[in-house]
Amino acid sequence: MIIEASFDPVTVEMVQAIRNLMKQEGIHEVYVQPGNEGILSVDQRVRLLRLAFASYRHIHVTKGKKADRILTGYEENEKLARSGYFRLVPASVRRDLIENNLYLPQIVEAQCSPHRAIHSKGVADTCVILARAHHLDEKLAERMGYLHDVTKAMSNEEGEAVLRIWSPSDLSLNPKIWHSRTAVFWLKHNMGLYDPKVLIPIWNHTLGQGKSDYDRILYIADKIEPNRNYDTTYHLSLAKKDLRKAVDLVMKEGEEYRRKGN
Ligand SMILES: [Fe+2]
Ligand SMILES: [Fe+2]
Repeated sequence: MIIEASFDPVTVEMVQAIRNLMKQEGIHEVYVQPGNEGILSVDQRVRLLRLAFASYRHIHVTKGKKADRILTGYEENEKLARSGYFRLVPASVRRDLIENNLYLPQIVEAQCSPHRAIHSKGVADTCVILARAHHLDEKLAERMGYLHDVTKAMSNEEGEAVLRIWSPSDLSLNPKIWHSRTAVFWLKHNMGLYDPKVLIPIWNHTLGQGKSDYDRILYIADKIEPNRNYDTTYHLSLAKKDLRKAVDLVMKEGEEYRRKGN
């Protein structure tokens, strides 16, 4: 039997549903395949299906065949997974999604305001440019750029509730800074993203106190991404050469801006 669904991406719920179906109907051998429509390509979804069903000997993965059955009713969890709730997909699939930066635009569109989603893409693109200039991991840079403001839309009440449990000492910080802390808890809790190389720069991105190259890249990119409405050509060329000097410049300008505003 060939079972087709969008599998965009395959969720734990769907793995379970297929196993139940086999049991209930006494089917011994099943092929699963992704439909044509999806954010991810058919081949990407085939790869994820292979990971999800790797340990099930009687469930195989195929593509482009005539399906015997179309599986529906599981779209809600797929949509949530595309919004960043990677907890809803099998662990092996989750790792693949994170490593390959899949669904990042969809995550920021679902979690952030339209303005913030555009900013997040601008930051991600700038992080990639700077990582390339300094021979660092471009994928990691893109990931932290996209995700750094993931909880920016969280209300102060919700932010306070999260910090009260996870990091009470941060409650004394200005609430504008909270999102850099709540983002880390959100990413661990909902996305299953634990990589400190991504989380530490996000934690540090508002205050700019981080000392690694990735800390510096995210801090700078956040301030100079192309959607900020001032000319940052000089900042970008300086940051490509010297991250420390660029952090100092951006920090100094930020202080001047705040002083004038007060
Ligand atoms: Fe931020
Ligand atoms: Fe930002």
